Amino acid sequence: YKAEIDASDIEKGTYAHYMLKEIHEQPGVMRKIIQEYQDEKGELKIDKDIVKAVRKADRIYIVACGTSYNAGLVGKEYLEKWAGVPTEVHVASEFVYNMPLLSKKPLFIFISQSGETADSRAVLVAIKELGHTALTITNVPGSTLSREADHTLILHAGPEIAVASTKAYTAQIAVLAILAQVVAKDAGIKVDVDLLPELAKVTAAITAVIDDAHTIEGFATEFLETTRNAFFIGRTMDYYVGVEGSLKLKEISYIQAEGFAGGELKHGTIALIEDGTPVIALATQESVNLSIRGNVKEVVARGAKPLIVAMEGLEQDGDTYVIPQVHEMLAPLVSVVVTQLLAYYAALHRGCDVDKPRNLAKSVTVE
Ligand code: G6P
Repeated sequence: YKAEIDASDIEKGTYAHYMLKEIHEQPGVMRKIIQEYQDEKGELKIDKDIVKAVRKADRIYIVACGTSYNAGLVGKEYLEKWAGVPTEVHVASEFVYNMPLLSKKPLFIFISQSGETADSRAVLVAIKELGHTALTITNVPGSTLSREADHTLILHAGPEIAVASTKAYTAQIAVLAILAQVVAKDAGIKVDVDLLPELAKVTAAITAVIDDAHTIEGFATEFLETTRNAFFIGRTMDYYVGVEGSLKLKEISYIQAEGFAGGELKHGTIALIEDGTPVIALATQESVNLSIRGNVKEVVARGAKPLIVAMEGLEQDGDTYVIPQVHEMLAPLVSVVVTQLLAYYAALHRGCDVDKPRNLAKSVTVE
C-alpha cells in the first residue's frame, strides 16, 4: 500500500493547533475524496467486490467508537434511504459483550480513523470467527482493522494528529454517502440526490463556514467561555450532529455537554435548564424545522440562552448563525464544522490544551 503522508501533512505550519489545521483541511479532504472515488467518466466508483458485498447483505451492522460511531449514525441514513439496506449502528465495546440477534446475511462495517481501536477489533475478531464479512472504513491503509477485514475503503483525509477528530468525521460521512449511492445505482434504485455536484456545494459551504471562524469564535466566548454545561438539540440528522458536537466540546473544553433529540428533552433533560444555560439548537432539516423551533421555545421559557444554527432557507428571525444551503441529507457535513469551531474556540479561551486533552488518547489500543 501507499502511505499518503508527506512532511507538510504532519507539520502545524501557521496554525496554532493541529485541530484548527485539520478543521481547515476539510474542504481539501472533500475534494480529494471526490477525486479518489470518481472514474474516468466522472462517475462515482467503489470497488466492485465491496458493492457486491453490500448488495448481498440483508442487513448492515456498523460498529465503531467515539466520533466514528457518530459518523456511523449519519451513514446509516444513506445506507437505508439511498441504498435500501436496513442498517444498525453499534458501539463496539457494547456489541462485543452483548451481540444482537444477527440477520441471516449480515455485513459488518467497521468505521475507524486509526484502524487500531481495540474495542472495534474485538468485534471484528468475533464476527470473523462466526464467518461473517467485514468492510473497514479507515484513514490508515495497512492498519489492523484494514488488514483483518475482507474489504477496505480509505478516507483520504491525511494524517489526523489532534486527539479530537474533525476531518476524519466529515470524510467518513462523505465516503459512506458515496458507498450508499454506488450501491443504489448498482441495484437500480433511483436516488434524487446528485451526489457529486452536491458534495461540491458542501465543499464550498464548509469553506464559507471556515472563513467565518471569527464570528464563531465570538459565539464561543459569548456562550461557552464560562459555562459549566451546555446542551445540543436537534432532530433526525441534526440530532446526530448534536451528539458529535457535544462530544467535541466535552473532549477539549471539559464543559459538561450532551446532545439530545429535541423531542426527548421534555422527558427529563429539560430539568437541567437554568437561567443562562447555553442550548445549541441545529435546524437544517425541513421536516422538523417547526418542531425543533418549538423545542427552542420550551428551553428559552426556562431561561436557556439559545444559540441557533440554521440552514439557509429554513432560517428565522433571531437565529444566531446561518449556514449556506446544501442538500439536507448532507447538511451534517457543514453544520458539524460550526460545532467543531465552537469547541475549538471554547477550549482555547478556557485555556485548555486543545490538541492533547487530559485523559484521552488519539488511538485506544486497549480494551
Ligand atoms: C479515541 C479517540 C476518539 C475516536 C475514538 C475512535 O477514543 O480519542 O477521538 O473517535 O478513539 O477512534 P477510531 O480511530 O477507531 O476512529
